Amino acid sequence: MKTITVALDDRSYPIVIGRGLLDGGFDLAEYVRGNDCLVVSNDTVAPLYLDKLRPNLAGCDITSISLPDGESFKTLATLQKILDQLVTSGANRDTTVIALGGGVVGDVAGFAAACYMRGVAFIQVPTTLLAQVDSSVGGKTGVNHEKGKNLIGAFHQPEVVLIDTGTLTTLPERELKAGLAEVIKYGAICDPDFFEWLESDMAALIDQDPDALAYAIRRSCELKAEVVAEDERESGRRAILNFGHTFGHAIEHCLGYGKWLHGEAVAAGMVMAAELSGIAAADRARLSELIAAAGLPTQPPAISSERWLETMGMDKKVQKKQLRFVLLRSLGEAYVCADYDHGRLYALIGAEA
Ligand SMILES: NC(=O)c1ccc[n+]([C@@H]2O[C@H](COP(=O)([O-])OP(=O)(O)OC[C@H]3O[C@@H](n4cnc5c(N)ncnc54)[C@H](O)[C@@H]3O)[C@@H](O)[C@H]2O)c1
Ligand SMILES: [Zn+2]
Repeated sequence: MKTITVALDDRSYPIVIGRGLLDGGFDLAEYVRGNDCLVVSNDTVAPLYLDKLRPNLAGCDITSISLPDGESFKTLATLQKILDQLVTSGANRDTTVIALGGGVVGDVAGFAAACYMRGVAFIQVPTTLLAQVDSSVGGKTGVNHEKGKNLIGAFHQPEVVLIDTGTLTTLPERELKAGLAEVIKYGAICDPDFFEWLESDMAALIDQDPDALAYAIRRSCELKAEVVAEDERESGRRAILNFGHTFGHAIEHCLGYGKWLHGEAVAAGMVMAAELSGIAAADRARLSELIAAAGLPTQPPAISSERWLETMGMDKKVQKKQLRFVLLRSLGEAYVCADYDHGRLYALIGAEA
């Protein structure tokens, strides 16, 4: 079992990582302020893991709610359902909300915890690789609006993040690979040694070697914790975590959400961002090769230049608008840049300068 601390003064919290921590392997009840908790999960994860979570909450009064599975349910309507359940079960300020599932469950359950009685305690038990290395850490919570992703939300840090890496054994392979995109991202933006380790151990990760996965999750959480501790509310450095995401979000948006998984879109987006960065060809090749080795796309799907520009907020009328991209100085060092090479961007998306 490994513990990493997210250092945020009085809002600091541990990320506890280990295989088999569910089934009572870790005393989560210690982090439940009162005695009552509401476990929020979904119809896929609850049958697999809700009963395994109960022994970790010995002595607590547990109620639960199971949401329909999918990004399309990360909505205000779902938030309302969770709040209704809190109200009707008589939850009070000491009630703890526990998210058991992937990033969708974590984001909406966390937002419910942020809203109910102006904020009750919250615990993350992430069960996808993406949630274990990214969405469960850092306190961003929220739901989608029909006009855009994550438009409504709040910062609300959890009391603890409990990662049982054993839950990944039931995760579909495509979801595992999508999570690897965010793992590669950490190496690319802030840790060249980790990037090298990923190059040599990608095959083990794909084969779900427990030690390799545990290390990749631990290192990713350490790196995210460092960045979040430096800039909790994304007024500066935290933005580097969006490497590949401007292009990635455009891909998701143009294809329609759900066609490509978020990690798949970010993978192709990182290759594009590396090209826009103008780093050495050999480094761009290393990034593409690592992404390909993870079974992820290195090229975007066919999207017209007009659609690219429009979805990135750069249609003809607002061409002068300053977009900011996260670019690489080299492999392992990212920065936020508003002064990128327009010609290179236009060439990348097939537009005329
Ligand atoms: N808050 C943040 O900082 C942050 C960061 C990145 C992403 N996100 C959000 O996270 C969401 C994506 O998260 P995700 O990739 O985890 O998707 P997800 O929550 O939709 O989970 C993917 C699929 O795997 C299933 N699943 C989860 N755990 C499983 C398990 N152990 N075994 C079998 N199936 C399992 C889910 O039911 C779902 O069908 C997006 O909404 C995104 O906006 C948030
Ligand atoms: Zn992401």
